[in-house]
Amino acid sequence: MDFRALGVSGLQVPAVGMGTWRTFDIRGAEAEQRVHAIVDEALANEAVFVDSSPMYGEAEHVLGSAIGDRRARFLVATKIWTRDAAEGVRQAERAIAYFEGHIDFYQIHNLVLWPEHLALLERLQAEGKVIAIGATHYSAAAFAELAQVMRTGRIAGIQIPYNPLQREVEREILPLAAELNLGVVVMRPFAEGSLMRRIPSPEALAPLRPFGVTTWAQALLKWSLSDPRCHVAIPATSRPGRMTENAAAGNPPWFGADERALVGKLAGAG
Ligand SMILES: NC(=O)c1ccc[n+]([C@@H]2O[C@H](COP(=O)([O-])OP(=O)(O)OC[C@H]3O[C@@H](n4cnc5c(N)ncnc54)[C@H](OP(=O)(O)O)[C@@H]3O)[C@@H](O)[C@H]2O)c1
Repeated sequence: MDFRALGVSGLQVPAVGMGTWRTFDIRGAEAEQRVHAIVDEALANEAVFVDSSPMYGEAEHVLGSAIGDRRARFLVATKIWTRDAAEGVRQAERAIAYFEGHIDFYQIHNLVLWPEHLALLERLQAEGKVIAIGATHYSAAAFAELAQVMRTGRIAGIQIPYNPLQREVEREILPLAAELNLGVVVMRPFAEGSLMRRIPSPEALAPLRPFGVTTWAQALLKWSLSDPRCHVAIPATSRPGRMTENAAAGNPPWFGADERALVGKLAGAG
């Protein structure tokens, strides 16, 4: 299966991609060298779906320069994030320049000013500068509004938080996404890293080894990607080495109900 649900071709799903919040908001030669190594590592491991936003400080252009002349090998997701429609136009001009003329999946960040930005993204799509349009929200309090935007039929995908401690999307959002055949990008697969504070022992993870899982990060990523309604999980990292580990969770076999329940238990989900 490719990423047809998002209208973005060339990506086999389920897949691990990469987020850039905090981790790519950097300055200086040393930090740049580090994130370039992370992007190289993501590409080498086929984690080619990369997500950013103007909300993430320097991240968008840092990501663009790390990708460099390899733009065609990545699927770039970014966002419009502003309460000012004119600034939205400027954000889009900047992002389209950073990513060599087009954005694969352009999202409305946290639904901010969504009617105006949706119209802008549709104009850019008609010009061939945007491939697929999406919407994001991190908070369950906004899921009713997100569902409303999904039902307009004008977006191809969504980005939502999903991990064993944050399962609110299972109530309405994931069933609706499946019904509407929308692409689903999973943000915060490690609950912003908080799920990494207590790492289960190798013995506790042993039943997951036949699924290719050797680390807790892989267990959590495979937990979300084993839900057939989810397409891409986008963990963020500031450390070279971790994209190799994370990307390995994007391969079958997928967890069944028992393995997902075990990961939930190890995560401390009630
Ligand atoms: N509203 C929105 O649209 C929205 C909101 C939130 C997030 N997002 C997107 O979703 C992405 C992911 O969410 P997130 O960055 O909040 O959180 P996350 O991916 O759940 O967690 C990131 C944390 O996990 C750690 N980590 C990564 N790989 C690891 C590994 N293999 N082992 C141990 N720790 C590991 C990282 O630490 P190290 O740096 O030390 O590796 C980092 O602190 C964001 O970057 C952003 O692109 C979108």
